[in-house]
Amino acid sequence: MATAVAAKGLEGIVAANSGICWIDGDAGVLAYRGVDIHELAEKSTFEETACLLWHGKLPSKAELAEFSKKLAASRSLPPPILDLLRSFPKTATPMEVLRTAVSALSMYDANEKAVDHDSNIRKCFALTAQIPMLVAAFDRIRKGKDVINASTFAARVIAATLSDVHSAITGAIGALKGPLHGGANEAVMHMLFAIDKEGADPIEYVRNMLAQKKKVSGFGHRVYHTEDPRATHLRKMSEDLGRSANQARWFEMSHKIELFIKEEKKLNANVDFYSASTYTTLGIDIDLFTPIFAVSRIAGWAAHVIEQLDDNRLIRPRAEYIGPEYPAGYVAIENRK
Ligand SMILES: CC(C)(COP(=O)(O)OP(=O)(O)OC[C@H]1O[C@@H](n2cnc3c(N)ncnc32)[C@H](O)[C@@H]1OP(=O)(O)O)[C@@H](O)C(=O)NCCC(=O)NCCS
Repeated sequence: MATAVAAKGLEGIVAANSGICWIDGDAGVLAYRGVDIHELAEKSTFEETACLLWHGKLPSKAELAEFSKKLAASRSLPPPILDLLRSFPKTATPMEVLRTAVSALSMYDANEKAVDHDSNIRKCFALTAQIPMLVAAFDRIRKGKDVINASTFAARVIAATLSDVHSAITGAIGALKGPLHGGANEAVMHMLFAIDKEGADPIEYVRNMLAQKKKVSGFGHRVYHTEDPRATHLRKMSEDLGRSANQARWFEMSHKIELFIKEEKKLNANVDFYSASTYTTLGIDIDLFTPIFAVSRIAGWAAHVIEQLDDNRLIRPRAEYIGPEYPAGYVAIENRK
């Protein structure tokens, strides 16, 4: 019997048609609905980009005003959700809190089970407005302050079972939490702090990591084999913010490491690498890095869930069986070694 070769990590496997995001990993291009992200990063607001992701075109002034109004109108959290946040241990990480609170929000949705297009859009407005509120509210609660406000494939797999938007986004948050994905930005900052604390030379520090066969977080990407286009903007932000806040050391340390890893391992900095020094310069706690990433990624997750449910087919890949040969036979307990 011929054995099919399994693609470990589903590398290179096309699992869906999508009109949202186009990536050329060799040329370092990322485009949303055909618009290059360099242009979006320079010219477009978050709301305009979210509108482009969800509706397929950049909004007119009137459409943008309507979109922003709807987003603002969705900006509230049910009081029991705030009570839930207060009930969590203060040691809980914001990412764990976000995952649980997004799941809990579905119980307060007016029509939680509906998966039609209009209901999905309504839920995506609510979640896009509520996720930043959850992150900010929990941070204030754990610091004893009053509450004053307020991955993509995982999301699509969950949505494809005709589960609801909240379940899909909860799954995406769980996937983003991992250190090989969004959690990498937190690992980068732990490394920069460790270098600073030890007074170590940044290059020697990472050289030592490589010698121990450790991965240096913030480098490499499954798809981008050249500069991650998002890293271009974060590098500039890290440098500009660092210089204007008189805290250029995080950028400078990062830049030395970037040049070394590029030379030594031919690996490029990814989106997470310079987001670490950027967030730290902004005075943001490390465990809020990944939740803040989720605050922006929700617009893209939402676009993918809506697209998946508009033309759904269950995503059901198979695994290549590599276990004991059939029939292995059942061994009675008294005969087992
Ligand atoms: C993102 C990532 C998971 C992509 O991995 P992948 O496509 O599965 O590639 P691999 O992990 O198989 O890496 C291929 C080779 O490059 C090396 N490599 C990849 N990323 C590396 C890193 N950050 N530091 C050191 N070596 C790295 C691997 O050790 C491997 O070398 P080998 O062939 O000698 O064993 C990987 O680059 C990584 O773990 N990066 C660090 C975590 C991170 O920054 N994640 C955020 C992504 S946006």
